[in-house]
Formats: sequence, structure tokens, C-alpha cells
Amino acid sequence: MIDSDDRLRVVFADLRRAVDDVILKHQVTPAELTAVLGWAQRVADAGELGSLRVLFFKTVLRATEGITYAHPEKDGASSWDMGGSAYRPGAPILPTPAVLPMRPDEPGEPLIVSGTVRTTAGDPVPGAVLDIWQIDANDVYSGIDTSDFLPLHIPNDSSGIPRWNLRANVVAGPDGRYEFRTVMPGTETLGLDPGGPLGALTEALQTPGLRPRHIHTIVTADGCLPLTTQLYFDGDPLVDAAIEGPVPASAVRTTVVHDGHRTLHHDYVLRTR
Ligand SMILES: [Fe+2]
Repeated sequence: MIDSDDRLRVVFADLRRAVDDVILKHQVTPAELTAVLGWAQRVADAGELGSLRVLFFKTVLRATEGITYAHPEKDGASSWDMGGSAYRPGAPILPTPAVLPMRPDEPGEPLIVSGTVRTTAGDPVPGAVLDIWQIDANDVYSGIDTSDFLPLHIPNDSSGIPRWNLRANVVAGPDGRYEFRTVMPGTETLGLDPGGPLGALTEALQTPGLRPRHIHTIVTADGCLPLTTQLYFDGDPLVDAAIEGPVPASAVRTTVVHDGHRTLHHDYVLRTR
């Protein structure tokens, strides 16, 4: 049995090796090490230790709750991605083809997303439920507020926006096909203070403290492992330059521009139990 001290020793030994490798590979100097420690001290002094999680939190979740969808390259499964703090269960249930709940004057370019939910063996998944949520074109999530993102300080004033705006459970048809109409999502900030040490790091790395545009989905179906994932948009410069690390290439989709709206095709590929 592995106790917590054993685990600490094992994980620390690997961490030590990984950091040593980076130091040796790049010939990190004593002055650079001192600069790193000084930066860490400024992060603490600025009260930004809680925000440091944005650097590695997604990886930690991938290693834990995302483990059932690890190594999607083996079988063509969809890529796992984090759900995040903006999720709220219980959105309206709508049959396909659906229109996500939205205001009559919902801002943003109309977008129609469609495809099939299938298994890694290629079988359609009838009646799969796609629990969808996204930020609006003004960069606000419905149904939550700024305090829901703590310890990150992400401004999100959703007052005046209907609770389930741009959120729904879309039920795929008997052939696994689904379609929903929405709008192009806006941009989600990580809420970093541009004048603080974390903001200075993102600026120096030329990775703005923003997330790439995305649509969240949790897909559930009888006999399949639930999948939490996100869709991204080809051509968004942030998909290659986000402080959270690269996004899965298979989740970056190309939109087709039509007269007055865009379409996007994407299949969700589930692993069976
Ligand atoms: Fe999000």
C-alpha cells in the first residue's frame, strides 16, 4: 500500500528529474533561477497564488477526471477537455434540431453545429444527450456571476440575462444525429491583472490571459462513458497561444461561412463501457 509520504517521495523525485532536465537542456543560469524565485515571491505578495492554478489545473484534471478518455489517438475517441466553473446542470431539454435558448436580439454571428454521436466502433448512439453551454458574444456566461470563478477574478455580470441563455441539453435522434443553432461564442478571460506578476508572465510569453473561443459539451448516453469536451474554432490565433497549453487538434473545427451564418460539423466519439 502506498501512503502519502511514499507518494510524495515518488512524485517529487519525478518532478526533480523533470526540472533538472529543463535546467540542463537550456543551461539555466543562477541569475535566471534567482529571477524565477523573485517572480514567485511577487506572485505571493500580489495575492496571485490562487491564480497560478491556470497554468496546470487543466493538466491535473486531465490526469484525474479525464482519465477515461486518455490517449484518444488510440481509438479515435473525442478528446477530453475540462468542464470548468461556468457549468450549471439542469438546462432545458430540447430534441434535435434545437435552437439554444437565446434572447430575441441575441448578439453574435449565428452558428449551426451538427454531426453524429457515435462510438469508437463507428456505431451511432441513439438518444445521446449533449449538455451544451457557452459564453455569449459579449463575453458573459448566463446563470453565474463573478464569485463563481473564485479564486480566479473573472468579471461575469449576468444580471439581465436569462438563466439558461445559450445552455441546453440537446437530445440526438435515433440515428445519433444532432443539430443545434447558437451564436459564435465570445472570448473568456482568465481574469489576470495585467499589472500583476502573472499578467507580466503572459505578456512576456505572448500568450494573452484569454481562452480560445469554445463551446462546452458533456455527452452522456446509455452504455457509453460520459465525455466532457470543448469545441474550438480554426483560425482563432488563441488555439495555439493560450497560457493553459495547447488545445487538442481534433477539437479545433473549421466553420463554413454562409450568407448571414456559419455552419460547423463535428462528430462526438464515445467509448463504450
Ligand atoms: Fe468556458
